[in-house]
Amino acid sequence: MIPQNGETMDDKKDQKEQWDGTYAMAEDFFGNDPSELALSATDLLKKEGCNKILEIGCGQGRDAIFFAGEGFEVWAVDYSQQAILQLAEKAEEEGATMTLGVHDVRRQFPFPDASFDAVYSHMLFTMELTEEEVSFALDECLRILKPGGLNIYSVRNDNDPHYGKFLEVGEDMWQNPMGFVVHFFTEEKVRRLAEGYQVERIVEFEDTSPPFVKKLYEVVLRKPVAD
Ligand SMILES: C[S@@+](CC[C@H](N)C(=O)[O-])C[C@H]1O[C@@H](n2cnc3c(N)ncnc32)[C@H](O)[C@@H]1O
Repeated sequence: MIPQNGETMDDKKDQKEQWDGTYAMAEDFFGNDPSELALSATDLLKKEGCNKILEIGCGQGRDAIFFAGEGFEVWAVDYSQQAILQLAEKAEEEGATMTLGVHDVRRQFPFPDASFDAVYSHMLFTMELTEEEVSFALDECLRILKPGGLNIYSVRNDNDPHYGKFLEVGEDMWQNPMGFVVHFFTEEKVRRLAEGYQVERIVEFEDTSPPFVKKLYEVVLRKPVAD
């Protein structure tokens, strides 16, 4: 591990505190518009007849609010209490109905098996989660999805301008100067982690929301329907 830009491992930040603090300072950290991923997911979710969806790592809710406006039954969780409080307030102001909770995806979901048509996350698995932790969370998503249900997610990939830059803090993980740890994924890693699912799509796209352009994979996985 080679710290860069004068940083040391002692500068590594607690990521939950980092998100709580960031959201407290900026009401719309990623802007108010839905993400590119949410727009493409909406078309697919409608085509597939999905209704009940769970967004994990929803942040301040730019996508959750959009999904509610599109008529889906939205459930949304994040481990940042600050994010969930802000989203609850915004949802009430905008008349958007959704069920919210504080939840860390390194733990089991408090939901029964086969209870959602789709699970959605934008830039969650690309946070400070080890491959083992991502694998656990993907297994949990598989458990709570109905057979044939979709897991739609995005992760920053190895073509991203920040790949391999700044302070190395783990396997394929670097902490950027803003203090966020990012886990970057190759297509091979995405496929390896899809065990138990059918892979429907892995496509590169750009997220142009603030504070900078990111290169990601859009991943669509399906829970197989038993014979
Ligand atoms: C890059 S932000 C994306 C937020 C939102 N999806 C969006 O695009 O506007 C990542 C989010 O994941 C949340 N997060 C990170 N690690 C988490 C964990 N272990 N469990 C639940 N949420 C987590 C953070 O609090 C943050 O809101």
